Amino acid sequence: MKELSYYESASESALLDLIGEIRKEAGDLLAIMAHYYAPDETVALADEVGDSLALAKKAAASSASAVLFCGVHFMLETADILMNTPERIAARNGRRALVFAPDATAGCPMADMIDETRALDWERQLKEYVDVSEFTPITYVNSSAGTKAFCGRRQGAVCTSANAEKVVSDALARRPKLLFMPDSRLGRATAVKLGVPLDEIVFWRPDEPLGGIDPDALRRARVILWDGYCPVHQKFSAETIRKIRATEPTAVVWAHPESPREILDLCDGYGSTTKLLDVVANAAPGDVVAVGTEWKLVDRMRRRNPDKKILYPAEEPSICEDMSKSTLPKVARALDAWRSGEPTNVVSVPAEVAGDARKALESLL
Ligand code: 13P
Ligand code: SF4
Repeated sequence: MKELSYYESASESALLDLIGEIRKEAGDLLAIMAHYYAPDETVALADEVGDSLALAKKAAASSASAVLFCGVHFMLETADILMNTPERIAARNGRRALVFAPDATAGCPMADMIDETRALDWERQLKEYVDVSEFTPITYVNSSAGTKAFCGRRQGAVCTSANAEKVVSDALARRPKLLFMPDSRLGRATAVKLGVPLDEIVFWRPDEPLGGIDPDALRRARVILWDGYCPVHQKFSAETIRKIRATEPTAVVWAHPESPREILDLCDGYGSTTKLLDVVANAAPGDVVAVGTEWKLVDRMRRRNPDKKILYPAEEPSICEDMSKSTLPKVARALDAWRSGEPTNVVSVPAEVAGDARKALESLL
């Protein structure tokens, strides 16, 4: 396998030629999927581009035997779990579909804020104060396969930013209470939207004794949120939104639900990356829309909608460095290695974790 520097020193057209040649040889055996936060040049060549929910569904339905996934680690785990069900492996005569990344180090800092060990320790601590059988555990899709398996073993579910309300309301119809991990912003916004009173929602701060929660408040809580967050969506500022409102009174302001509560409270609406794209697409020429999400996507919206004024509610561009790792040279290198029979950065979830995680992932399909 050639060094990355070989691909990094090649011209963009040489890389595109190489990628084109490999795709032509592979035909339908190979699919390239990219999240909206991937770099422009990668988004431009992907077979499928979407939010977490859409990409999980595409992976589940894909007939490709190899998927180069330009996203972050949890997305590859999800694709691997959904593409490699026992039935689908049997239909491929025992062969697993291969899910691989342009860069093995592309992770999600929020997903890493909890894992199965910490979830088990959380449950152990909660058991001393509450009846945990009354709680359905829900994990945001931005979580490890182990965290998803923890939820699957307890008849819990996975949600994304696009279906959180449905998943949470179904869960509250089954059992009276909810554990939500690891995104406390999305968890809180969803619970509030579904009518859970604020004094029945508590934030479990994992570094503090009993999550920093008063035992009586814990006993009363209907929703206990693991206090994780996305560092990229932390950067939006209430002050900038107020300035936008003052200088552009007709502006509508939308943000991704991973944004902090004070930001969501100031917005006209919030939604998944697909929803934010829809808001911009449906705006009329001349409309002013402020969009609080990862910078590369907002910058792309700006370039694709020159007739609309797209504003950014942060002091400076907030970039997901992990999503930015799927560069063209790394895409070319990963594909070249795969073609030569030495695939790199392969993500394969062990069967005992995948089976339980898959139960929780049913909620996405
Ligand atoms: P979406 O599912 O809305 O695309 O969000 C994924 C993500 O990681 C946002 O930070
Ligand atoms: Fe994770 Fe935030 Fe990056 Fe999304 S934007 S992948 S939540 S760090």
